[in-house]
Amino acid sequence: MSTIETERLILRPFRESDASDVLEYLREPAPNCFVSLKLDTLDEARAEMAKRSADTEYCFAITLKESGKVIGEIDAEPSPYEPPMLCSRAAAGKGKDLPLPDTFSPCWMLNAAYRGRGYAYEAARAFFDYLFGRKGVRRIFAYTEDYNVRSQHLCEKLGMRREGLFLEFVSFVTDTGGNPVYENTLQYAILKQEWTEKQRKVRT
Ligand SMILES: CC(C)(COP(=O)(O)OP(=O)(O)OC[C@H]1O[C@@H](n2cnc3c(N)ncnc32)[C@H](O)[C@@H]1OP(=O)(O)O)[C@@H](O)C(=O)NCCC(=O)NCCS
Repeated sequence: MSTIETERLILRPFRESDASDVLEYLREPAPNCFVSLKLDTLDEARAEMAKRSADTEYCFAITLKESGKVIGEIDAEPSPYEPPMLCSRAAAGKGKDLPLPDTFSPCWMLNAAYRGRGYAYEAARAFFDYLFGRKGVRRIFAYTEDYNVRSQHLCEKLGMRREGLFLEFVSFVTDTGGNPVYENTLQYAILKQEWTEKQRKVRT
């Protein structure tokens, strides 16, 4: 089980007892990309925590060191498009060991009451250090909608490059007529070598 410590935060796997703190910010999740995470009751939140607690390496509660309160979450998933995933069918049955995924995409969310205090940057920076330094990650990319200025700002503060803008790329919700509402999506990314260089500059 992994934990990550920063000046003000501890990032650790979720526990069932986190349910009420998480319900606080997942009752009305925003932006639209998080709509599927919506929770309505404490029981739902407990069940979700039980599920999340199985992932002790890539899914973390962001907690305040001082009080232990869960103020948000950060996680990362392997890209479905990277070679180990794409090659898995070809290698299946041939007894070949596939390389571990090394491209990951993070998700971050803070309880609205704790935004604008530098916690997201503090957590994401430590999480990137962990992914690149301890989990063998080579590339991190993030999708964010074109209207999500706070998330874009966070990507840029982390030194991620803006790689592209995909118009009407994805839809998470429908309008009142049941038609998909399409969103324009920005992609940001950073390589391990870029991260290492950036951290070296920050430290000297
Ligand atoms: C995206 C999100 C995580 C960013 O959180 P955030 O609190 O705005 O980000 P930061 O931690 O970088 O804090 C930003 C501001 O806190 C302020 N701040 C206050 N105290 C600070 C401190 N001690 N250290 C650093 N910054 C501090 C600064 O003004 C900083 O702004 P700056 O970067 O212009 O200097 C948050 O807006 C969120 O949860 N949004 C909803 C979910 C979401 O959109 N997720 C992404 C989907 S793609």
